[in-house]
Amino acid sequence: MQWAKLQSKARFNLATSGVAAYPLSELPVTINQLEINGDHTYGYAPLQQAIAKKAGVDPDNVVAAAGTSMANHLAMATLIEPGDEVLIEHPAYELLVSTAQYLQAQVKRFPRREENNFALDPSEIRRAITPKTKLIVVTNLHNPSSVLTPESTLREVGDIASSINAHVLVDEVYLDAVYENTPSTSFHLGKNFVTTNSLTKVYGLSGLRCGWVLSQPDQARAMYRLNDLFGAVPPHPAELLSVIAFQNLDKIRARARTIVEADRAQLSAFFASGQAQDFAAIRTDFGTTTFPNLKNGNVDLFITQLREKYETSVVPGDFFDMPGHFRIGMGVNTQMFAEGLRRIARSTQD
Ligand SMILES: Cc1ncc(COP(=O)(O)O)c(C=O)c1O
Repeated sequence: MQWAKLQSKARFNLATSGVAAYPLSELPVTINQLEINGDHTYGYAPLQQAIAKKAGVDPDNVVAAAGTSMANHLAMATLIEPGDEVLIEHPAYELLVSTAQYLQAQVKRFPRREENNFALDPSEIRRAITPKTKLIVVTNLHNPSSVLTPESTLREVGDIASSINAHVLVDEVYLDAVYENTPSTSFHLGKNFVTTNSLTKVYGLSGLRCGWVLSQPDQARAMYRLNDLFGAVPPHPAELLSVIAFQNLDKIRARARTIVEADRAQLSAFFASGQAQDFAAIRTDFGTTTFPNLKNGNVDLFITQLREKYETSVVPGDFFDMPGHFRIGMGVNTQMFAEGLRRIARSTQD
């Protein structure tokens, strides 16, 4: 995260994970609809309802949180005790691992194997669990590869978790980047599922910090009380804007979809061309990221040169414990993306 905040920026920034920022000027809102102070209880009712409606759950299942980041923290902190074993996919979004470590969990990893197209494989989880496992953590779509896990597989993971009285935490922050037949939240798959999400990555509304957890009402209440230690009361203007964003969600997502799909077309052309002969990538039809590896050569040198000579940034695979790889993000600006790809190709030809 520190790298993303301080070092990822470049003229051709392919080190993103979310889509282009959605401008306030395109949200149908007037100043009269905003207010600084509001309701100081647990959850602003119109926002609770908007999240609940989108997810097809009861508002009592919803915990509003400052982004998926805080949602993940609240969920993990409520579901585990220090010393509990937490099983997390590998490769993974690093903050999931460090949040569990911060909560003094014993973190164990299970592989999503590249040779298996980074698929979530329940047999790997079955092999890794112990009676001490209290939580299994996955992302859907998978960060960094954007691979979608089918509902049947998630059900299997839920059954494995049930057999040892554990929960499954599914971070769904990229799920709505499946633009056709968007899967519904896996919260519906069983009482031991807890899911997190936000309007940040797929909608370009990161500044609203509109995130949420879906969980059983008793856990949801515990999470809200835990949040009293952190944010306590969310910024009300952001709550009001988030409610308006929910009323316009289809339009907001459609805007992002246009850019993501144009970038994906560029990416497909790139991989189909001779330019990409030095790379191998698991390709997906969804999501905002892809995670290629450099087949020959030193990836650190490649990334450094790409940045210094070609003004292009990508996320080093080291941040996912997968040296040799790098992550490319789509959905910000197609001209920038196309030029970034050209520079990636040129950089390997030097
Ligand atoms: C898997 C995953 N979860 C959570 C987050 C953080 O999301 P937010 O901006 O909603 O806090 C990210 C950001 O990159 C992510 O990749």
